[in-house]
Amino acid sequence: MRRWTIDGGNDWQTSPTAVAVCSALNAGKLVAVPTETVYGLAADATNGIACARIFEAKGRPQFNPLISHVDSLKSAQLHGAFNEDAQTLAMAFWPGPLTLVVPKLPTSDICDLATAGLTTVALRVPSGAIMRFLARETGRPLAAPSANISGRISATSAEDAAADLGPSLSFVVDAGPCPVGIESTIVSCVDATPRLLRPGGIDRMQIEDVLGRKLQGPAASSDLQKPDAPGMLTSHYAPTARMRLRALDVRAGEALLSFGATRPLGAECAVKEINLSATGNVREAAARLFSALRELDTAGARTICVQDIPLTGLGEAINDRLQRAAAPRP
Ligand code: TXA
Ligand code: MG
Repeated sequence: MRRWTIDGGNDWQTSPTAVAVCSALNAGKLVAVPTETVYGLAADATNGIACARIFEAKGRPQFNPLISHVDSLKSAQLHGAFNEDAQTLAMAFWPGPLTLVVPKLPTSDICDLATAGLTTVALRVPSGAIMRFLARETGRPLAAPSANISGRISATSAEDAAADLGPSLSFVVDAGPCPVGIESTIVSCVDATPRLLRPGGIDRMQIEDVLGRKLQGPAASSDLQKPDAPGMLTSHYAPTARMRLRALDVRAGEALLSFGATRPLGAECAVKEINLSATGNVREAAARLFSALRELDTAGARTICVQDIPLTGLGEAINDRLQRAAAPRP
């Protein structure tokens, strides 16, 4: 891990290190980047393997959807459909500690792992100049959860980020402590009335003032990391087809989600087969999981059978996701 210290001068944007950090991001590496709220563990949001590395580094047992950071509202509109409320809020609070959840555009190249397979996308234009600079220079949306190990306190300094994640990082960008210190407020602009999903750096009243009406959503503080998080509802994840896990054989009319070199009995009869990783690499499997499920779901099979995937590394999150998808439907 290399450290890039930015001390307030203006020449950081043209320094050789800036170029090296952009190259690392372009190559799918992880970089700890300060924002006004907390330090983010940033990676190219369009690169499934890079996003898999984020979950791996944080040791997240589940695939929570990630926020994609962009440099402007114009860039954000390449990825999400902004209704009038979303535009109003973006114009009032961006750049700043507000994240907007909006319908994901079919033309967006943000990968399915970054959005955890949801049809919505979380977008934010931070006021932290470094994250915006890196998004602009790389020309990529940057996925970034808080730069801490899962379940630990969010990192608000480069030291905290490096202490938790050092070995996984190409660079840590050090711009001192974060001025806001708590995460961004998350507002969903998907339904007719905007909904507060997570209280944060901008308070509810400021948002309601700008909207001229009340937000829906939790009055008290709520933590999206908890199992009742909107993004974690089983129904959000379930494909239309039924799921059969740890399949040793493929039955008539089933689609097959395979893993590794050994194929189950009857694999050749599958309505459709997608192998998550022929070499048995769980990182590659994680990167492909959500798009593979979606593709198999459109193959017209009543059931998707899934080969056993080991619980090692990202395998735990993959199995968590598969179990949710296979859970009895409400
Ligand atoms: O201030 C922040 O927001 C920081 C900095 C780095 O930008 N980032 C941050 O990310 O707090 P993270 O991953 O720790 O929290 C993102 C939250 C997750 O709880 C996730 O459930 C929610 O955003 N989220 C992301 N996409 C979503 C979606 N499409 N629908 C609902 N919730 C979503
Ligand atoms: Mg967090």
